[in-house]
Amino acid sequence: MREQVQNSASIVGSGKEFNNPRSVNAEGQFSEKIVLVAGGTGGLGQAVSLAFIARSAKVIVTYRHEQEFLALKQKAGQDASSLEGFAVDVTDESATQKMIADILAKCGRLDVLVNAVGAYAGGTPLWQVDPKIFEQMLSLNLRSGFVLARAVVPAMLKQGSGVFVNVASRAAFVHDRASAAYAASKAAAVAMIDSLAADLHGTGIRVNSILPSIIDTEANRKAMPGADFSKWPKPEDIAKVIVFLCSDDATLIHGAAIPIYGNS
Ligand SMILES: NC(=O)c1ccc[n+]([C@@H]2O[C@H](COP(=O)([O-])OP(=O)(O)OC[C@H]3O[C@@H](n4cnc5c(N)ncnc54)[C@H](OP(=O)(O)O)[C@@H]3O)[C@@H](O)[C@H]2O)c1
Repeated sequence: MREQVQNSASIVGSGKEFNNPRSVNAEGQFSEKIVLVAGGTGGLGQAVSLAFIARSAKVIVTYRHEQEFLALKQKAGQDASSLEGFAVDVTDESATQKMIADILAKCGRLDVLVNAVGAYAGGTPLWQVDPKIFEQMLSLNLRSGFVLARAVVPAMLKQGSGVFVNVASRAAFVHDRASAAYAASKAAAVAMIDSLAADLHGTGIRVNSILPSIIDTEANRKAMPGADFSKWPKPEDIAKVIVFLCSDDATLIHGAAIPIYGNS
């Protein structure tokens, strides 16, 4: 997957200034950059991983099921050599610390962290929520970002640069019925990243949250076959927002929580 972006070059001459649209290749935008996409084989994560690969990044993903990693490798096609995977549970502090140490030993740096690990559970009022489900929501939607940030931020501080995008959800702001555990975990994740942004103010490291509404993933299409899929944001379009946030075009954006609702 290669992407062309249109850019405008200003040409000055013979007293006239006009725009000369020219095609600039986005291919090399993240060349030499090391990008970790936690949950990079998931419905959203794979679009994020492929978007960074298309821009020449070296991409490392975490996954739990090897088949999903192999499927992603296949999708990466001729760029598969730019993709590596770690079968690591990112809610496990010591396993995550070891993975980051391994990445730093091999690559020497880590420029971008995207946390696309998470899960949804809902459909019952709070008093019927199984405490195990409550713990699972906190673990995957909140603890994952905490553990990853604890492992990655010290290395980024040493580098004096780095970007972290944490995937939250519209549910962090919009608290529908029968979603208490999910909404609480995502709202807490936004608060945590906001506070981390304050911790990192002036360090050269940027952190932001994104808040998608229901995403147009295969899993959601199966779960809600009667829904109007055209209203849901596409993983590829959300990936573009994440890529932008991680790029040098977004150096002014730090501590934001960005809604991505499409037409929903
Ligand atoms: N889908 C939506 O409609 C929607 C809407 C708003 C926000 N979000 C958020 O967007 C993010 C991505 O959602 P998604 O739909 O892409 O989810 P998904 O398809 O279930 O993907 C989740 C990814 O995380 C990995 N993963 C899960 N638990 C892990 C763990 N403990 N350690 C390491 N990796 C783990 C999964 O690997 P395996 O597949 O190998 O288990 C998979 O790669 C989540 O934070 C989700 O809450 C999703």
